[in-house]
Amino acid sequence: MDELICPVCRARGIESPLRREKNSLYCEKRHCFDIAKSGYATLTAAPGTSGDDRDMVRARTAFLDSGAYRLFAEALSERLPPDGVIVDAGCGEGYYTNLFALARPDARVYGFDLSKHACEHAAKRARALQSGAFFGTASIFSLPVASSSCAAVVSVFAPIAEAEFARILRPGGLLIVGAAGKRHLIELKRAVYDEVYENAGRRDLPEGFEPVGGSELSYGFVCEGENIKRLFSMTPYAFRTSREDAAKLDLLTALEITADFDIFVYRKK
Ligand SMILES: C[S@@+](CC[C@H](N)C(=O)[O-])C[C@H]1O[C@@H](n2cnc3c(N)ncnc32)[C@H](O)[C@@H]1O
Ligand SMILES: [Zn+2]
Repeated sequence: MDELICPVCRARGIESPLRREKNSLYCEKRHCFDIAKSGYATLTAAPGTSGDDRDMVRARTAFLDSGAYRLFAEALSERLPPDGVIVDAGCGEGYYTNLFALARPDARVYGFDLSKHACEHAAKRARALQSGAFFGTASIFSLPVASSSCAAVVSVFAPIAEAEFARILRPGGLLIVGAAGKRHLIELKRAVYDEVYENAGRRDLPEGFEPVGGSELSYGFVCEGENIKRLFSMTPYAFRTSREDAAKLDLLTALEITADFDIFVYRKK
């Protein structure tokens, strides 16, 4: 865990490595960060916003465990370097992170998320799968990771903190972004809304990076039962949909859905 640094010192502009002593991590100034029984570390400098709640984490876990996004996770993992430090920024409950760690046994894989519920679940899964991934609560805008220490940062359906990602990546390091393609979940939107638009196209080039070839992945899958609502709750539309519109999903038992993903790969200049 050589690349982990103290978030308190970091907020003061100093990079102080963290060392493990029993169930805590300490910096040179003896700032202390607990490692929970489940195995994740609390690395947020100050308690504040908390990210996804327990229900959200449960819903996403149940959906992802159906395997519907497995091909996407594998496509992302193929873009990872074979070794070095890999950070999954905004890792959620670690579905992708653990898969990356299993696919890259020679890499040191970290997942960071604001949500302690997500990190707790991710760490438990890491233990069960023996993936070797390490999880911590942290904001992706202030990561407890040493500058220029990472071979890759992955961001899947999560906010992008380009300046912070550029700081922790070594020169030539990769930023791999997984996002919704134009027709992602279009049938799910049609089931809820009268008027449906395709998702917006590519995002701007992150500053300090050059594109090195992205790819698209599109396939159909059948979503059944409770997973229909779970999947809807994972989307950004869930927050801006009336109860009346969302209730239309209650009438469905199965829905054939398009999964359409964009994978963008950038290299730090
Ligand atoms: C849509 S979820 C995606 C999670 C996971 N990457 C996945 O695809 O299953 C977005 C995640 O970003 C986290 N998140 C949002 N803002 C964050 C921030 N500033 N720092 C760290 N995590 C954040 C949330 O807690 C949530 O787990
Ligand atoms: Zn410190």
